[in-house]
Amino acid sequence: MNYQWYPGHMTKAKRMMEENIKIIDIVIELVDARLPISSRNPDLEELAKGKSRLIVLNKTDMADSDMNDEWEKYFNTKGYYVVQADSRKKTGFTEVSNLINQACSEKIERDRRRGIINRPIRAMIVGIPNVGKSTFINTYAGKACAKTGNKPGVTKGKQWIRINKKVELLDTPGILWPKFDDQNVGMRLAMVGAIRDEILNIDELAYELIKYIHSIYNGMLHNRYKIEESEDALETLNKIAEVRGCVSKGAELDVSKAAAIIMEEFRNGKIGRITLEKPPV
Ligand code: G4P
Repeated sequence: MNYQWYPGHMTKAKRMMEENIKIIDIVIELVDARLPISSRNPDLEELAKGKSRLIVLNKTDMADSDMNDEWEKYFNTKGYYVVQADSRKKTGFTEVSNLINQACSEKIERDRRRGIINRPIRAMIVGIPNVGKSTFINTYAGKACAKTGNKPGVTKGKQWIRINKKVELLDTPGILWPKFDDQNVGMRLAMVGAIRDEILNIDELAYELIKYIHSIYNGMLHNRYKIEESEDALETLNKIAEVRGCVSKGAELDVSKAAAIIMEEFRNGKIGRITLEKPPV
């Protein structure tokens, strides 16, 4: 299988982001905690040059908790502020505000020396599609938050959401696309659903996923599907097809059906908390 990604609006989105980044103080980059490197776009380093940076390890509820800690440490050592979040359940958000303040302390001090007090920090969310940007914004901003800008008498401009006295968030996230040469990166992105399914071979993905889970999270497939795990991923896939009653018309096992079930359950976190990549050493 050849993983590729041909986004139609990439150039436009990138241009918009370049524009928006000019007026913000801090870039809040959302990454998927299950694949924190593969779900980043390396172009951001250049785009966000000179800005404060906060990495949100999102969807930590679906990732291996020990690995969440490992990844937090890893990004810390690279000089980023990091927070572990579950945007659906709203965990990690008190820390987000605290870290934004810490990350922007130099800017706040610079403002203070110039006599500018209480100018809010302007933040922008960025990340690849489906990483949880909209969910994060909704959770962080809350429903009651007033939008600023575009009011009568105010010059037409960006929509800012006032989070609190100190922080304003741009309501439109920056969309980055996954960027990769390594086909394994493409495969991991496909596994979490970051690449559209129409262009994927689900059978092959499920096969690779079974192989991975068996090697790193031995016993997890047994717990979920009540089957004996085999060294041979195809055999395991067949067993799952059996226990889940995946049969086609001629009463033959329908492995594709089982593969679809596995991928769907993995993406919904039903198989267990699984992280697909380790921090580089
Ligand atoms: P995007 O703007 O970056 O494209 O992503 P969006 O917020 O639309 O989120 C994509 C999917 O990821 C949504 O699920 C959303 O609920 C889910 N999600 C976001 N953050 C988290 C998280 O921290 N943990 C978990 N488990 N899921 C998260 P969906 O199935 O597409 O929609 P829905 O079921 O929420 O309606």
